[in-house]
Amino acid sequence: MNYKKKVILALNKEIKEKLDENVLELPPNESLGDYALPCFILSKKLKKSPIEIAKKLESKKFPSIIEKTKAVGPYLNIYLNRKHIIKEIFKEKENYGKGNKKEKIMIEFSNPNPFKGFHIGHLRNTVLGESISRLLKFQGNKVIPVNYYNDTGKHVAKCLWGLENLKVSKPEDKDLGEWLGKIYSQASIKGKEEEFSIIHKKLEEKDKKYTKAFKQGLSWSEEHFNNIYKDLNITFSKIYYDSDYLDTGKKIVNNLIKKKVAKLDEGAIIADLEKYKLNTLILTRSDGTSMYITKDLSMAIDRINKFKLDSSVYVVGSEQKLHFQQLFKLLELYGYKQSKKCYHLSYGLVNLPEGSMSSRSGNIVLYKDLKRKLFKLLDEEINKRHNNKSKSEKQKIKEDIFSAAIRFDMVLPDTNKEITFDIKKSICFEGDTGPYIQYAHTRASSILKKSKEKISDKINYRLLSKKEEQNLISKLALFPEITKNAAEQHKPNIVAQYLLRISHLFSDFYHNCPCISEDKDLEKARLLLVFCTKQILSSGLYLLGINSPEEM
Ligand code: ARG
Repeated sequence: MNYKKKVILALNKEIKEKLDENVLELPPNESLGDYALPCFILSKKLKKSPIEIAKKLESKKFPSIIEKTKAVGPYLNIYLNRKHIIKEIFKEKENYGKGNKKEKIMIEFSNPNPFKGFHIGHLRNTVLGESISRLLKFQGNKVIPVNYYNDTGKHVAKCLWGLENLKVSKPEDKDLGEWLGKIYSQASIKGKEEEFSIIHKKLEEKDKKYTKAFKQGLSWSEEHFNNIYKDLNITFSKIYYDSDYLDTGKKIVNNLIKKKVAKLDEGAIIADLEKYKLNTLILTRSDGTSMYITKDLSMAIDRINKFKLDSSVYVVGSEQKLHFQQLFKLLELYGYKQSKKCYHLSYGLVNLPEGSMSSRSGNIVLYKDLKRKLFKLLDEEINKRHNNKSKSEKQKIKEDIFSAAIRFDMVLPDTNKEITFDIKKSICFEGDTGPYIQYAHTRASSILKKSKEKISDKINYRLLSKKEEQNLISKLALFPEITKNAAEQHKPNIVAQYLLRISHLFSDFYHNCPCISEDKDLEKARLLLVFCTKQILSSGLYLLGINSPEEM
């Protein structure tokens, strides 16, 4: 249930207004209520001071979903009915907060380049994309996750040059895609532009030897990427290949010429987007080959037509901002109304404490290296903590923490901010980390296991009256609107921040309100609150792609 909406409807009825739900504010802390109505927005119409309006509204009787209201200066603070919230979460469980949107949305993410390494920048992209997919699905939409491999271009030639000239022997272990990525990095440093160009040209001419090497390399890279996706528990409905769109631009460009969006210019075809402040761009070169933008345009049109999409999301680094503005403008000029619902989710780079990374300079952290490092740290930590557990139990705990470590810090800062990924901090149980939230979840699990009482919603709700209990319930109620906002704004960080807050409030609660008690009615009431908190934590973690362990 979206309480914000319900509350505004109840208020509107009382004051005979048509206020939008977004006029409601969140009070600075939970003890001041769940929502606040800033009454000055009504003063003009009611010809009264906001303070008077708040006072007047306070005395009104509202539907049962509003437990009480309190006038504080020009604000009317609104407290939701606690019983209602808890009952609702208990009843709906993992469906609590699910939406009923029905759009068909394609989301493109991950996009590593074959022949190059899959580094922690790709990891951030992948983690964000997966989370947004889950959020959009949770709102009820039909989501089609796709991936796009750029399998043409200079980087392919560089890597093939490296294979031929660097004479590095093939490793015994099977991950040849990772090995290729390393060869690419070395080749970038050691080879010369002229040498790369020769191979590039030969590849375009379908030279037998290089085509064979290309196909072999592509399959190694794909296997490598697939292993990573398996690790991350991610599947795509479709993979797009750059090479399938090399010449598809012609028809589209001809249509753009007819629509007077594009024109001939010394053999090339260009589009002048100056009046939109989006520069002039080349669509096809004088030899007829397509540019990046043209391939993207034909791919976008293909996608819309084939899947009857309502909208598209592209998760791509912030350095391509202009490219996507141009793409969406061309799509609009071409006549696709969906262009208004295309969204470039631009995200900031991932830095390491040692500095920024680039696959050319070789100073990059590959996903696999990160994984090895994290598991080494986790091995030490978990062996220390749980030496009485079996090997498979320990493995499960490590994998659970790993799922949080690699995701949480990637999504917690605002998406368009650059981040510095700190490996040691990512597995910490304290501070604003993913494992901290998982830990809160395991505490809830262990409380529920300890009690012999059955969880039910037939409890005495008045017993949950301590401030820690009230604050926690108040925040739990926000889950539906938090997830709705996060999906609409494509911002998983809203969920991440929320889960941290829930974990803090839960920790306050359980340090001050012992659950297992002589007073069985009190025990039952608190258990139900623990149960609901656990439910919200696991639903929220799921939306970030993070496991919810029972113990760790
Ligand atoms: N592989 C590309 C790169 O590394 C990103 C692809 C972005 N997606 C797109 N539809 N243009 O720059």
